[in-house]
Amino acid sequence: MNVITTVDGFRHARASFDQIGLVPTMGYLHAGHLSLVRQARQECGAVAVSIFVNPTQFAPHEDFTRYPRDLERDLQMLADEGVDLVFTPEVSEMYPGGFGTAVVLPAADEVLEGAARPDHFRGVATVVCKLLNIVQPTKAYFGQKDAQQTVVVCQMVRDLNMLTQIVIAPTVREADGLAMSSRNSYLTPEQRAAATVLYRALTAARELLTSGERRGDVLRQIMAEVLAREPLARPEYASVADPLTLRELTEVGPRGALISLAVRVGAVRLIDNLLV
Ligand code: PAF
Repeated sequence: MNVITTVDGFRHARASFDQIGLVPTMGYLHAGHLSLVRQARQECGAVAVSIFVNPTQFAPHEDFTRYPRDLERDLQMLADEGVDLVFTPEVSEMYPGGFGTAVVLPAADEVLEGAARPDHFRGVATVVCKLLNIVQPTKAYFGQKDAQQTVVVCQMVRDLNMLTQIVIAPTVREADGLAMSSRNSYLTPEQRAAATVLYRALTAARELLTSGERRGDVLRQIMAEVLAREPLARPEYASVADPLTLRELTEVGPRGALISLAVRVGAVRLIDNLLV
């Protein structure tokens, strides 16, 4: 496994491969990341993983400095998976002095995570655009857990005529339903137990929807009720939205719905979703 920290070094190593799949990550890897790595290996043969905690997608009050990091452990996990190339640049390599370009999708900032985290998707789109340009992957793999991120990346690739195919893989969950996330490591044991409320609220809405209830308000209300029963949970939003436009639905139509939540458990902000 070749671990590379510079753009020039990566381009040089990349030249030995024809097709390559990219799994972009911020490190502190878990089984969700590894499932993307395995899918990339199956579909593309060679696999590149980027590990870069991207400062531009964090607001000043967010957790950039304390975001969990363990490069040694990550590299061991990737070596065990037979990953070919790992790109671990420093911030100064990705954003050298004089850097001045951003990829902006204004509509993304109006809803859900974009409304809650202004400029977050500007940071995500810019860094993913750079990673796709550096790695030139045949396919790039993202988890459904960050649903709005997948919508943003797909639109960017379409709008900018980028050649990489974006693959979206199902959310990997713990046995009790909690979606895997590097941020779960912030949870105390008590908060960890309470965090299952996200999946319970989502599945309550899904059951109601599949049993024939299509009114958005009723589906949002059932999630609010489940969340209200968990004293440690402070909901930020409970959404039933169109899966493509991410606009809230009055009535779920033939395209189905993206049912999603952002909830604080203690100080930890968790998100999850189901596509129904
Ligand atoms: O999902 C993530 O881990 C990040 O948002 C990504 C796609 C690696 C960009 O920094």
